[in-house]
Amino acid sequence: MQKKCVNILGIETSCDETAAAVVADGRIVKSSVIASQTKLHEKYGGVVPEIASRAHIENIYQVIAESMEQAGVSPSAVSSGQSNCKDDIDAIAVVNQPGLTIALVVGVTAAKTLSFAWDKPLIAINHLHAHLQSAILNEENPVLPAIALIVSGGHTCLYDYHSPLEPRILGSTIDDAAGEAFDKVAAILKLPYPGGPSIEKTAEKGNPDAIKFPRSMLGPESLDFSFSGIKTAVLYYCHGQDMKGENKVDSMSQQEIADIAASFQAAMVDVLVKKTKRAIKKIDAKTVLLGGGVAANNQLRTALQKLCESYKPAKKLLIAPKQYCTDNAVMVASLGYYKFEAKLFADLTIEPKATG
Ligand code: KG4
Ligand code: ZN
Repeated sequence: MQKKCVNILGIETSCDETAAAVVADGRIVKSSVIASQTKLHEKYGGVVPEIASRAHIENIYQVIAESMEQAGVSPSAVSSGQSNCKDDIDAIAVVNQPGLTIALVVGVTAAKTLSFAWDKPLIAINHLHAHLQSAILNEENPVLPAIALIVSGGHTCLYDYHSPLEPRILGSTIDDAAGEAFDKVAAILKLPYPGGPSIEKTAEKGNPDAIKFPRSMLGPESLDFSFSGIKTAVLYYCHGQDMKGENKVDSMSQQEIADIAASFQAAMVDVLVKKTKRAIKKIDAKTVLLGGGVAANNQLRTALQKLCESYKPAKKLLIAPKQYCTDNAVMVASLGYYKFEAKLFADLTIEPKATG
C-alpha cells in the first residue's frame, strides 16, 4: 500500500493577511491562498486592527475553501476509508500568538470549529516560529546549531535554533520592529504603504552614504534591537529638531528622498547584520536562517550573504523564498507537520494571545 503522507491545513490571521494552505509532510506545498488587506489599510499608513478583524471574518471561509479545493483535499477521506496521499486532511494548524488579538481570534475560532466538526487534531502555532520555519522549507536537514533572524512588521528577533520545536530567543526589539521602522520612515517620506518595498525601490537610486543615521547597538554584548532612534532621526532630518520647521519632504528633490531612503536602509541593514554576527559568535552557529517580511529586502539578503561568506568555513545562509517572507499559511502548515509528528496537539480551549 502507498505510504500515506501527512496533510496539514494551516490557517493564519495574525495581522492583515487572511491565509490558508495545505502542505504535505512539512515541505510539499499543495496550495497557498492569501487574501491581502493592503488596500484597506493603505490610506491609514498602517494596519487598523478593527478593519483587519472584520476583513478576516469576511474572507476566512472562502480562503480555507479555496486552499482545500486547490490542494484537492477533503476532511472526510479518512473516515470514508479512502485515505491516501492525495485527499485527506490530518490536522489543522493555526497561529494563536503573537499578533493582533481581534485578528487572531478569527483564525483560531475557524480552526477550532473545523477541528471539532471534522474530528481532526488541532495544533497551535507561534507566528514567529512559523516565519523561522519558512527559511528551512527547502532544506530538510540544516547543519545545526543555527542562528535565526526574524524581521517582520511586528517583531525583530534572534533565535538559537536547534530544532523546529524549541527555538530559544536570544534577543528582540525593545521598541519598534524593523518592518515598523521601514513603514514609519516611508510614511515620513510620503512613500506608499507598505513601507518596506517602497523604501527599497526608492533607495535604488540613492546614495547610502549621503546621511549618517544612528546605529543603535545597545552596548557591546546586547542581542536586542532598538529602531525608534533611527526613525526619530529621519523625522528630525525632515522636520527639524523642534518639529516646528516645515516638512521639507514636499520640497525635496527625488534624489534627496532617494538618498534618505538609501541611508536609512543602509543603517537598518548594518545593525541587523552586526547583531547577527554577535549571535553567530555566541553559539558558534554553523547556519544562519532569515525570515519575516523584511527578509524580502535584497540589501539585507546580500549583506547577510557577505557576512556568512566571510567565515572560514563559510556559514550556510538559508533564506525564506520571497513569496513566503511576508505572512502566509504555508509556514504555519509546515511547522504544524513537526508538531503533528511530535503529537503536540492543542485542545479546544486555546485562546489567541497578543504576545509570545
Ligand atoms: O512578516 P510580515 O508580513 O508581517 C508581520 O508579521 O508583521 O512583515 C511585514 C513587514 C512590513 O513592515 C513591510 O514593510 C516589511 O515587512 N517588508 C519589507 C520589504 N517587504 C516587506 N521591508 C523591507 N524591505 C522589503 N523589501
Ligand atoms: Zn509575520
